[in-house]
Amino acid sequence: MRHKIALIPGDGIGKEVVPAAARVLDAVGKKFGFDFEWTAFDWSCETYARTGRMMPEDGLDQLRAFASIFLGAVGFPGVPDHVSLWGLLIPIRRGFHQYINLRPVRLLKGVKSPLAGRGPADIDMLIVRENNEGEYSEIGGRLYKGAPEEMAVQQAIFTRKGCDRVMRFAFEQALKRRQHVTSATKSNGIIHSMPYWDERFAAMAKAYPSVKTAQYHIDILTAHFVQHPDWFDVVVGSNLFGDILSDLGPAIAGSIGIAPGGNINPEKEYPSMFEPVHGSAPDIAGKNVANPIAQIWTGAMMLEHLGHPDAAKAVVAAIERVVEEARTVTRDLGGKASTTEAAEAVAALL
Ligand code: NAD
Ligand code: IPM
Ligand code: MN
Repeated sequence: MRHKIALIPGDGIGKEVVPAAARVLDAVGKKFGFDFEWTAFDWSCETYARTGRMMPEDGLDQLRAFASIFLGAVGFPGVPDHVSLWGLLIPIRRGFHQYINLRPVRLLKGVKSPLAGRGPADIDMLIVRENNEGEYSEIGGRLYKGAPEEMAVQQAIFTRKGCDRVMRFAFEQALKRRQHVTSATKSNGIIHSMPYWDERFAAMAKAYPSVKTAQYHIDILTAHFVQHPDWFDVVVGSNLFGDILSDLGPAIAGSIGIAPGGNINPEKEYPSMFEPVHGSAPDIAGKNVANPIAQIWTGAMMLEHLGHPDAAKAVVAAIERVVEEARTVTRDLGGKASTTEAAEAVAALL
C-alpha cells in the first residue's frame, strides 16, 4: 500500500525536522508493509521573497489529491507573520475544513518537568482546539488609516455548527480516555461569544452523561495547568485559547520540541494536515540542533489517520525509548545529539 503525501517543510527548523521525520516514517513503513510517495512543495517565506506569494494561487487544488499533508512550520523574520501564516497555513486549515486541531500533551518518562514533583502519571492530556473560526477570523478592518481617529476592528465568530462539532469531537475522545472534558472559557469578561460557548458546552455535555465535565475561565485555567496538571484529561478550547494552552501544555511536559499535532478534517472529505505545535524556531534554525521528535510524533498521528494504528504505536514506543534512555536526545531535553542523530536513534528502533 502506498500513501501519497504532500511534504511542506516550510521555514526555519521545518526544513530540518521534516526530512528527518520522513526518514523515520519510511523506516516504519518498510517494517509494516506500506510506503510513501512524498511530493515536496517549497512553499515558504523564501518562496514569498522570490514570487510575492507563499503558495501559488491554485495551491489548495494542488494539495487536494493527497492523502495527507505533512508540514513543518511557517513563518520567518523578514516576512510579517500575518502575511506568511495567512498566505499558507491558515488557508489550508480553513479551505480543507480541518476544524479540529488535536494536540496531545504527555510528560514522557525520562523527561524532567519544570513543575517540581510531577511525573508521567500527572501530565497526560489531549487538547482539542477549534481550528476554523473563533478569534481567528478575517472579518474586520481598519478605518481612518494614519489619522488620529485610526481604528482596527477584529470580529470573533462562534457558530453553533463550529462549537458543536469541536465539542462533540472532544467528548468522543474522552470516551476513549478518562471520561473527562474541561472547557476553556472567559464568559465573565466576554459577554456574547463565551456565554454562547458555555451554553453549547452544557448542551453537548447532556448528550454524554458518562463523561464528567469542568469549565474554567482561561486565566485561572492557565494557573491550574501549572498547579494541578493532573486534573486534565481532554481540554476543549476556542482557536485562541486552544493555541495558548497548547504551548503551555508542552512547556510543563518538558519541551515544545516533542509536542505533536494534527489539523484534522474528521469526515475525510479533504486531506488533513499534520504539523507539530512548535514554529520555525528562527533562533536555532540551520544548526541541526532542533528536536525532531515533535515532527516524528506528528508523523505517528498521521499514520493513525491513514489507518496504521500499529505502526503509529511502534513510532511512539520508539520515541518513548529514545527519550527515556536519554543518550541520543537534543539539547532542549538536556542532551547533545543533533537533529539527525536523534531522528536516526528513533529510526534505528524500527
Ligand atoms: P517557536 O515554536 O518557533 O519557538 C519558540 C521557542 O521554542 C524557541 O526558543 C525555539 O528555539 C524553541 N523550539 C521550538 N521548536 C523546537 C524544537 N523542535 N526543538 C528545540 N527547540 C524548539 O515559536 P515562535 O518563536 O513564537 O515563532 C517563530 C515563527 O514560527 C513565527 O514566524 C511564528 O509565527 C511561526 N510559528 C509557526 C507555527 C506553525 O507553522 N505551525 C507555529 C508557531 C509559530
Ligand atoms: C500554531 C501557531 C499558529 C496558530 C500561528 C503561527 C498562526 O501558533 O499552530 O499553534 O496560532 O494557529
Ligand atoms: Mn501556537
